Amino acid sequence: MHPSPAEAPREPSSTAAGIPEEARGTPQLAAEADSGAAPGPTPAFDFWRAIYERRSIRRFKPDPVPRELVTQVLHAGIWAPSSCNYQMWDFVVVDDPAVNARLAALSSQMGNAPVNVIVSYGRDFSEDAWANIQSASAAVENMSLAAHVLGLGTFWITQTGDREKVREVVGLPEDRLVVAVLAVGYPANPPRSGPKRRPLAHVAHWNHYAGKPIPGSPDPEDWDADLLAVYQRARVLNGLRHNKPRVWEVAAIETALDALVPGGREQAADPERAPRWLDVLPCTGIVTERLAKLRPGYRFDVVERTSEVAEFVAQRVRPRATTYGWPGASAQLASPPEAAYDVVSCVYRLENLRAAERAALVADMARWLKPGGTLFLAFVNANSYHDVAEWARASRGGLGGVEYVLAPDPSIGPFRSLRARDVQGFARAAKLSAAGSLGLHAAPPAEEIDFRARNSSQRARGLARFGAGVLRVAESIPGVRSARGRFQFRAYTR
Ligand SMILES: Cc1cc2nc3c(=O)[nH]c(=O)nc-3n(C[C@H](O)[C@H](O)[C@H](O)COP(=O)(O)O)c2cc1C
Repeated sequence: MHPSPAEAPREPSSTAAGIPEEARGTPQLAAEADSGAAPGPTPAFDFWRAIYERRSIRRFKPDPVPRELVTQVLHAGIWAPSSCNYQMWDFVVVDDPAVNARLAALSSQMGNAPVNVIVSYGRDFSEDAWANIQSASAAVENMSLAAHVLGLGTFWITQTGDREKVREVVGLPEDRLVVAVLAVGYPANPPRSGPKRRPLAHVAHWNHYAGKPIPGSPDPEDWDADLLAVYQRARVLNGLRHNKPRVWEVAAIETALDALVPGGREQAADPERAPRWLDVLPCTGIVTERLAKLRPGYRFDVVERTSEVAEFVAQRVRPRATTYGWPGASAQLASPPEAAYDVVSCVYRLENLRAAERAALVADMARWLKPGGTLFLAFVNANSYHDVAEWARASRGGLGGVEYVLAPDPSIGPFRSLRARDVQGFARAAKLSAAGSLGLHAAPPAEEIDFRARNSSQRARGLARFGAGVLRVAESIPGVRSARGRFQFRAYTR
């Protein structure tokens, strides 16, 4: 809440010098007032270039940054707007390697740059938290742009670990909230282009919002197909850092591939004449890229919901994949050709779909296969520890809603594990015959336990390790992996 007009600070009024009166302060304070002039040389720099060229820099040269330059950056920070002009920010600049090492121990993100600016804001004294965080953020953005103009790189950090510990390390009193840390340094290799932006036409609305709400529910039944497309396009275009499958997930796919699609390990002599592989709804394309590297004897195509995501994936494989659309052809994307593929793969994507769409997709995949071709399906088994692990995560109050459950980070949308007999039913209805199957991970591997329980108490971690140990013993019983394995793989032929 803003204070009443009587107690509210006066709106700054412009002066002949262009410096607001408030910034000059009372006559007694005038000597300390900030003139608004930057404390160093200000290189001419096109405003729009600064806006469009600034990038988050996460690798820096070890060279120290002169304090005068950092001061100039901070100065841009204090000229940001702040709620009621309270300016309750304080910046603690850490350029002492010993202090930076203590910060890096709290979060590795703060171990990247020679300078970390801890941006704090008055917790209670000033406006409500909502306005305080926005004011601090405005300062961070001003500083990021100023640093870019001065030839420096920055990287905005909210993953600071325990913010209260950060506050203590730099001696900020309790009334200050650490809002963010801005890493500053000379860029090691500045990226030529940034992560793509959602097109303006998708995010800008005149007078009334024209979109639909995106459900927070992880249940595919709550998601219209077009919303899933919007969500996944946004996730993919906004950058991929959260979406990486974990090592044990990738390893399971590799094992299954060796068992079920063993051919095509040699580079194709002529990619134009190579056998063809269609990867279905790859979304991030990380798995497609892996499949293409493991099976270079095939030429890869992709089928996705939107041309943007399809294009994004297509560029991850060599030669560049041809892109198709599902469900149905669109103005931008044709349907994949029928009976054209030696292999069609769909890796953990049926789980994204509504029940009715799953059967339809399997039927379509069967049509895209050549006679004698192989459908390689991977799915997460509802009859495994998976649902229990998800339940434990949800009840712990961790990240809720839409998540990439295979590697718990918000990512590809809704997800529901599947029963093997349902998958078998889809295949039968599509007139496919079973050609092989494999179940893996009836017990979570130790690295998964450590990963999933990383933020839990020691007791909970111990319990999880014990439970996994028991499952691991059970796993050696014949048939347990194939029935109870979390990761299920199937090969079908047409
Ligand atoms: C509020 C906020 C918090 C952020 N926190 C982090 C962070 O903790 N770690 C990180 O690697 N990047 C972080 N970023 C950087 C974003 O990932 C980055 O701005 C985005 O991917 C767009 O890339 P660009 O800055 O190069 O345009 C943050 C950005 C903002 C605005």
